[in-house]
Amino acid sequence: MTQSLHAGSAGSAAGKNTRSFTTIVAATAALGGLLFGYDTGVISGALLFLKDAFGLSTAMEGMVTSAVLAGAAVAAIFGGWLADRFGRRPVMLALALLFVAGALLSATAPGVEVLIVARVLIGVCIGVVSFVAPLYIAELAPPERRGALVSLNQLAITIGILVSYVVDTVFAHSGAWRWMLGLGAVPGLVLAWGMLVLPESPRWLIKRGHRDEARAVLLRAREQGAGIDREIAEIQEDLALERGAPGWKAFRAPAMRWPLMIGIGLAILQQITGINTVIYYAPTIFQSAGFHSALAAILATAGVGVVNVLLTIVALRIIDRAGRRALLLTGTAGMAVSLLVFAVGFAYGGALPGFRWIAILSVMAYVGFFAIGLGPIFWLLISEIFPLGVRGRAMGVATVANWGFNLLVALTFLQLLQAFGPGTTFLIYSGLSVAGWIFAFYLVPETRGHSLEQIERFWIERRPIREWASDR
Ligand code: BGC
Repeated sequence: MTQSLHAGSAGSAAGKNTRSFTTIVAATAALGGLLFGYDTGVISGALLFLKDAFGLSTAMEGMVTSAVLAGAAVAAIFGGWLADRFGRRPVMLALALLFVAGALLSATAPGVEVLIVARVLIGVCIGVVSFVAPLYIAELAPPERRGALVSLNQLAITIGILVSYVVDTVFAHSGAWRWMLGLGAVPGLVLAWGMLVLPESPRWLIKRGHRDEARAVLLRAREQGAGIDREIAEIQEDLALERGAPGWKAFRAPAMRWPLMIGIGLAILQQITGINTVIYYAPTIFQSAGFHSALAAILATAGVGVVNVLLTIVALRIIDRAGRRALLLTGTAGMAVSLLVFAVGFAYGGALPGFRWIAILSVMAYVGFFAIGLGPIFWLLISEIFPLGVRGRAMGVATVANWGFNLLVALTFLQLLQAFGPGTTFLIYSGLSVAGWIFAFYLVPETRGHSLEQIERFWIERRPIREWASDR
């Protein structure tokens, strides 16, 4: 692959080669997203059998489920530091190997204690890979394709969730939970191999003073060789502007205030608008809406998974033309309306025969709107808005908030459902989606087409976000 990339001499052939090179790099790193989706999704099916195998109490069941979320929330804190200190690639490689170890350990666990340790380990990996993969892709991608390339990671998350449903269903007859958990080793191995042969992020290389290596990587990743020296000069200029406040101290710089607020705000909003209640509890929700057979529940779950994948593909195709704001605002507005329809339906029409169809359609619409908006856009924006010097750490901070609130919603959802019923519970998520829309409308800038360095300059110059879109 490398040789053919270098050999491409004619303009268009070289263009195609660089395009496929960046796509291959992004798709390989996105295997981290696949593991994220698979490992968070697979446990619901495996639990049914784990309960019998280990005689789990309800409390233990909760621990096995939330071990991943807790591990992820804690690990994201130090994962960012590691990525800034040692580079994106070694961290991704180490994660891939740990993923394999975690999958094998959980598949061979002799008792519930080992299983919980393995799940925490997998959680640690998911927490770090969830932001290091988009970070690595964003730093290699050309600005005009960055949205689609980074969002390949979100697409992989949705595919991972769908595959976990399928695997759970296939092994459900035999109750082979060890296979369900162990299969996660396969994408882990491919990711490890990919990280051995793929290059380090050119931006991280420049930050560490390896200009020539960075230049060699950019030559493979850019169609216009002529712009490479300018790109390197801009990265160096931005780094010079950041000097003086290394490490965590940089967080106190005024230019960090807005990006941090936006990153953490979107992280929280992505979770408190309830997406994972549907991703993980769709069968419970559909049962409460009147679908009682087990098959109907499984089909409903598969439907949610498929809608999530398909609409993420739509987002990917338009994200670099329509822009981040348009998708985010449309997506959050759509989420608020679909949740409202679902909630009102429950309050006033729960007993009507046609209600269950309204319920299923509104939940599907809700997932679809998440998939074109908050789903991909959160991970994309946090890979774009932070300065290079502390990008890993800052993304880590936003990611901690994301996993922390994911855990909070997971822990409170069933209680809310019991105390208030589905109508009121989803009305709350609808209200929070409205809050998300207002937040996005007033605070989120348009990053489409800008280089990461331009974005950094905009913060330093305190450019009003209204002017970002026109300033290209
Ligand atoms: C979120 C996950 C969610 C997934 C669903 C991701 O962007 O961070 O919490 O399960 O999307 O597709």
